[in-house]
Amino acid sequence: MPSTEDRRRVAIVTGAASGIGRATAELFAERGHGVVAVDIDGSGLAGLGNGVEILAGDVSEAPVNEAAVRLALERFGRVDTVVLNAGIGGTPPLESLDAIDTAERIFGVNVRGPLHGLRAALPALRVTRGSAVFTSSVAGLRGDPGNWAYNASKAALINLVRAFALDYASQGIRVNALAPGLTRTGITAAVRRDAGLLAELERRVPLGRIAEPREQAEAIWFLASPAAGYITGTTLVVDGGLDADLGILPLPVPQ
Ligand SMILES: NC(=O)c1ccc[n+]([C@@H]2O[C@H](COP(=O)([O-])OP(=O)(O)OC[C@H]3O[C@@H](n4cnc5c(N)ncnc54)[C@H](O)[C@@H]3O)[C@@H](O)[C@H]2O)c1
Repeated sequence: MPSTEDRRRVAIVTGAASGIGRATAELFAERGHGVVAVDIDGSGLAGLGNGVEILAGDVSEAPVNEAAVRLALERFGRVDTVVLNAGIGGTPPLESLDAIDTAERIFGVNVRGPLHGLRAALPALRVTRGSAVFTSSVAGLRGDPGNWAYNASKAALINLVRAFALDYASQGIRVNALAPGLTRTGITAAVRRDAGLLAELERRVPLGRIAEPREQAEAIWFLASPAAGYITGTTLVVDGGLDADLGILPLPVPQ
């Protein structure tokens, strides 16, 4: 009988209709995983291809998270990895009329979503001694002007992975986060449509360009893989050097 290690590995990926989630679902499927791809945009999940089961729903509520685990167990028999990646921006000014309700929605998708996702998957992850990856952001490491709700939601994930790493280490479950920098996805589409803005953004990235979604997917693959078997409670920053720069030097040379 094959041991649990010999069997096909299985990942659940949320936010899989677009961007980083889609690239992750595709990468895991290409590398032989069974994949359950979840997104609120059901039509965007179409065309994900062989080895991918799709599920439409809102990750900020429990049912779709529970259904994703059931689907993975029914179709593939196990869950090794949950990539809790669905996220939204759209922070309003604090004094605008609907600011707190909008922030609640941002926290709902970006924080409550991963909480439901991990909670639903824990029984299955205990069996495989699997792992979870939350998609945080460089915006969780620092503040941005006008981005308080998104900043706070992404910062929450960085401390949640530390806390959950401690809670579940004794059960062999690892919990980590990815902090992407600027990446070519739906979330940056509006900015990228303006060539001038895009050039300015790229000028601010030490590596001189924004990331491709596949580059983020590769980092998620690593965090989920046995190669990262001793890594838990950490946030892997994949940002082309953005966070390495204090932004103070060099000063202009006096003429
Ligand atoms: N693109 C960047 O520059 C960047 C940088 C740092 C972090 N991130 C984070 O990466 C993650 C993936 O975003 P992306 O950049 O690929 O953007 P994206 O907009 O291309 O993809 C996000 C996906 O999440 C889905 N989604 C949104 N709300 C949902 C909900 N309630 N339930 C289920 N699915 C939902 C969307 O339909 C979409 O398919 C997000 O958490 C985002 O905050 C992105």
